[in-house]
Amino acid sequence: MINILFIGDVVGQKSCAVLREKLPAMKNEYNAKIVIVNGENSADGNGITPVTARYLLDSGADAVTTGNHCFRRKEMDAFYEQSDTVIRPVNYPDSVPGKGYTVLDFGSYSVAVINLLGTVFMQNLENPFHCIDRILEKINSKVIIVDFHAEATSEKKAMGHYLAGRVSAVLGTHTHVQTADEEILKGCTGYITDVGMTGVMDSVLGIKKEIIINNMITGYPQRYEYAEGRCEVCGAVIEVDEKTGICTSVKRIRC
Ligand SMILES: [Fe+2]
Ligand SMILES: [Fe+2]
Repeated sequence: MINILFIGDVVGQKSCAVLREKLPAMKNEYNAKIVIVNGENSADGNGITPVTARYLLDSGADAVTTGNHCFRRKEMDAFYEQSDTVIRPVNYPDSVPGKGYTVLDFGSYSVAVINLLGTVFMQNLENPFHCIDRILEKINSKVIIVDFHAEATSEKKAMGHYLAGRVSAVLGTHTHVQTADEEILKGCTGYITDVGMTGVMDSVLGIKKEIIINNMITGYPQRYEYAEGRCEVCGAVIEVDEKTGICTSVKRIRC
C-alpha cells in the first residue's frame, strides 16, 4: 500500500511558502510516498511561472498539475516543454506546449498523473470524457491519479462515475472550495469533487473579500489582491494498492 498526498490549488507565493513549511510534517503524518500539488495559481498575479513551479518541486512535490490558468505566463511555454513532472491539462491539442500527463517511475511500480480539464462553464477544449478514453489507452500504470480541474459539480461527479473502476482516483480541483463528499466508487476509485485550495480561508477563493464583494455589487473591475491572514493547506490523502491500483481510503485534509 502507498499513500499519496494531493494538495489543492496553491494561491500565490505566500501560500507556496506556507506549503513548503508544512509539507515535511504532513508527509510524515500521512506516511505519504508521493506528493502531487496543483500549482495553477502559484505565481503572484496569476498563473504559474518557472520560479513557482520549481519552488513547488523543491518543496517536495513529485508532480505539479495545473488547470485553466496554465498558459497565463509566456515563460512557462519553454518550461513545460522541458519538464516531465509539471503538466498542463491533457485536453489541449498536441500542438501547444507541454504534456497532459506524467508517469512517475518507482521501479517495481509506476504512478500516472493525468491533468484533465472540465468544459462545463469553462473553455471549450476537447470533451474530457472523449479525451480521457483516448489517454487511458496509452497508459500502462496500475496506479492512475486524475486531477479533474473543473467548475461544475455535475461534470465532476459524472467523471468520477465514468472512471470508477478504471483509475485509482479522480480528485477535483479549481473551485478552491473543499467538498465533503469523499468516497470510494465501485469499491476501487477514490473520489472527491474538490479538495479545496491552499490559501487564506477568510477570503473569496484566496482574494480579499472586500474587493470581490465590491466587484459583485458594482460590476466595476478592481485589481485583485490576495487576502492576508492564516493560510491553510487543503488536500486529500489516498491509500492505494500499488500492485492493483485499487484505492482503499480517501481522507480530506485541511490544516
Ligand atoms: Fe485555481
Ligand atoms: Fe482553475
